[in-house]
Amino acid sequence: MSNPLANTTPYPMGIHVELADGIYLYDKSGKQYLDLISGIAVSNLGHNHPKIKEAIKNQVDKHLHVMVYGEYHQSIQMKLAEKLCGLLPNGLDVLYPVNSGTEANEAALKLAKRVTGRTELISFKGAYHGSTHGSLSVSGNEEKKSAFEPLLPEVRFLDFNSVEQLNTISTKTAAVIIEPIQGDAGVRIPSKEFMEALRNRCDEVGAMLIFDEIQTGFGRTGKLFAFEHFDVVPDILTIGKAFGGGMPMGGFVSSLANMEQLTFDPKLGHITTFGGHPVCCAAALASLEIIADNSLLEQSEVKGQLFEELLNHSLIKEIRRKGLFFAIEMENAQVVQKVVEGCKERGVLTFWFLSNPQSFRIAPPLIINEEDIRSSCNTILSVMNDIDF
Ligand SMILES: Cc1ncc(COP(=O)(O)O)c(C=O)c1O
Repeated sequence: MSNPLANTTPYPMGIHVELADGIYLYDKSGKQYLDLISGIAVSNLGHNHPKIKEAIKNQVDKHLHVMVYGEYHQSIQMKLAEKLCGLLPNGLDVLYPVNSGTEANEAALKLAKRVTGRTELISFKGAYHGSTHGSLSVSGNEEKKSAFEPLLPEVRFLDFNSVEQLNTISTKTAAVIIEPIQGDAGVRIPSKEFMEALRNRCDEVGAMLIFDEIQTGFGRTGKLFAFEHFDVVPDILTIGKAFGGGMPMGGFVSSLANMEQLTFDPKLGHITTFGGHPVCCAAALASLEIIADNSLLEQSEVKGQLFEELLNHSLIKEIRRKGLFFAIEMENAQVVQKVVEGCKERGVLTFWFLSNPQSFRIAPPLIINEEDIRSSCNTILSVMNDIDF
């Protein structure tokens, strides 16, 4: 029988996973892989975390889905929202849970249009915000978009990190959406000056500022959220990936006054059947308690520095990094291909970026220890040594 599962690429990594535990994956043959990509910034606490599993099991024993989001009181949703919003600055006081990152961005764009009554959306070159129509419309990669046009109208793209272009944000602009550190463009870190100017400009013209922290959130960059590096707070924060502790979960967070506008004119302005699924909320809460309440965040900068020191090789042109979020820039895409493939052969998982083919990705679980950092870097360096041109 031909494969009844849809493919996303002609060249999938194709590992047949049998088990995942801590920072390791094991395939059907028992081969071990050290996971340096965390399922693309999801498994920030590694795989199979006992506290997350316990929380899931406890919730399973109580109830699964009982009603579409927003109608019944479900304690686990409330506990999660209290914990998360308690860790966020004023103005980010209310969580609306959804099922994925792209859905969080779709809803955030709708909320901005609803609150401002405006229609223009501004994004940045190199951005990635998801694969559904609205999120794709504000993503920068033309090659990935062109087959699906027409997309949303009235979307403009500015150069990332260009203070000068910010003055084109105007009183027509409903929202500016940005990754505070661009992920799939290959870990692009803007200046503090740019982020402050962006906040000021949005305030001046009354545009809503959306931070997409779907990839950078939950400790990936050494802070709970990347916006903390810049001391700039968005009007809407979108989250996903590591939020669910390995379960499918997204969310958007804003003020009560903003969020209430989704309840009238029209009422049910944004709805979801499975958003805030109780089992996902249980996993998300357990994960957030662990990430926020221990030293993993502080350690991630130290661990990141160790990676950076060890990855010293003539083939490496540049390392862009914040915390444990890395782009390793090589000469070209062919070299990247050889490194990613070679590492996989030798039991270390790295990966590509969507919009930066000459870099490869490292984003390990935050729980990775020194020994595993050293051994994985040795493997990467040995693969680079053995590349023949
Ligand atoms: C910054 C960012 N936004 C949005 C998304 C989309 O999230 P999802 O794949 O959960 O829809 C991603 C996924 O890679 C992302 O990195």
